[in-house]
Amino acid sequence: MATYLITGGTGLVGEALCELLIRTGQHVIILTRNPDSFSPNTPLLSYRHWDPVKEQIDELAIQQADYIIHLAGANVAEKRWTTQRKKEIVDSRVRSGRFLSNTLARIPNSVQAVIGASAQGWYGPDPSVPNPNPFQETAPAFRDFLGSTCQLWEESLHPIKELGIRLITLRIGIVLSLKAGALAEFRKPLRWGISPVLGNGNQMISWIHIQDLVSLIDWSLKQEKISGVYNAAAPHPVSNRTLMRTLARASRLPFVPIPVPTFFLKLILGEMSIEILKSTTISVEKVQAAGFHFSFPEIEDALRDLLN
Ligand SMILES: NC(=O)c1ccc[n+]([C@@H]2O[C@H](COP(=O)([O-])OP(=O)(O)OC[C@H]3O[C@@H](n4cnc5c(N)ncnc54)[C@H](OP(=O)(O)O)[C@@H]3O)[C@@H](O)[C@H]2O)c1
Repeated sequence: MATYLITGGTGLVGEALCELLIRTGQHVIILTRNPDSFSPNTPLLSYRHWDPVKEQIDELAIQQADYIIHLAGANVAEKRWTTQRKKEIVDSRVRSGRFLSNTLARIPNSVQAVIGASAQGWYGPDPSVPNPNPFQETAPAFRDFLGSTCQLWEESLHPIKELGIRLITLRIGIVLSLKAGALAEFRKPLRWGISPVLGNGNQMISWIHIQDLVSLIDWSLKQEKISGVYNAAAPHPVSNRTLMRTLARASRLPFVPIPVPTFFLKLILGEMSIEILKSTTISVEKVQAAGFHFSFPEIEDALRDLLN
């Protein structure tokens, strides 16, 4: 039985990961800014305090951990990207990452591996749609807000490698779950019998079923040969239009596409609209070659599983 320490473990990915680990009998410690808001329903789980801004952390949690998964960060899609929100998006990831690295250097521990979340936002837009050459992990960070954020975010954990601890970075695609995130938002208009298609709807979405993502996290921690950067998305990305059509079909509803024009999205969402309209096709050859098998490589199966 190993102990997994998850920062930001109260979020969408953290909750699903926690469920998987507890189901397999592992110990989970969640580092949260608000431990008193949660009551664990099993002795395998505990919530401990950290505050990366004030540089406070439960040191015992670090001493007990075998593996660390760093997921904390202000939600990128939750609020309009004002100057202040952008600073929060960056600081919550980069300062917390540096704090975690410094803490591991300072406190004696037996951590074997650390996973740092990153995002497909590392990459720029596809040079053509469809893109016959999906972005591989060796591509440089794109020079925009999310590209620079991902670069600083990933770099904040690099000192961990110098401590002799295995470091894995996952550049995560759009996570599909009914609980929250993109899919939950895409489903809402279906209640009104419509399927909004964003922009021209041709932009590619590199998505991943939440269960595949948490399996990948668990799997890569256990594989001693796995380190470095891996893209984390299903092998078959789809266009926004295909996603919406498949979602309607999987929901047993007619597909009634309603185009949402680019200018309208820009007006409502501001700079964040760039991300919704951006086409990003990422390659997962590297993680597949390393031996990871996706349970949900195709969007149809993923959506049917989630909806049922
Ligand atoms: N979901 C996706 O589609 C997706 C795609 C690509 C990458 N990712 C990345 O994967 C990670 C996990 O994603 P998620 O969807 O589970 O995120 P989430 O649901 O937004 O949860 C993130 C967690 O981070 C903590 N947090 C929020 N604001 C913070 C702040 N200002 N300072 C420190 N901690 C803060 C919160 O924990 P406490 O309040 O308990 O401290 C929260 O539960 C994130 O870093 C995200 O950017 C997600």
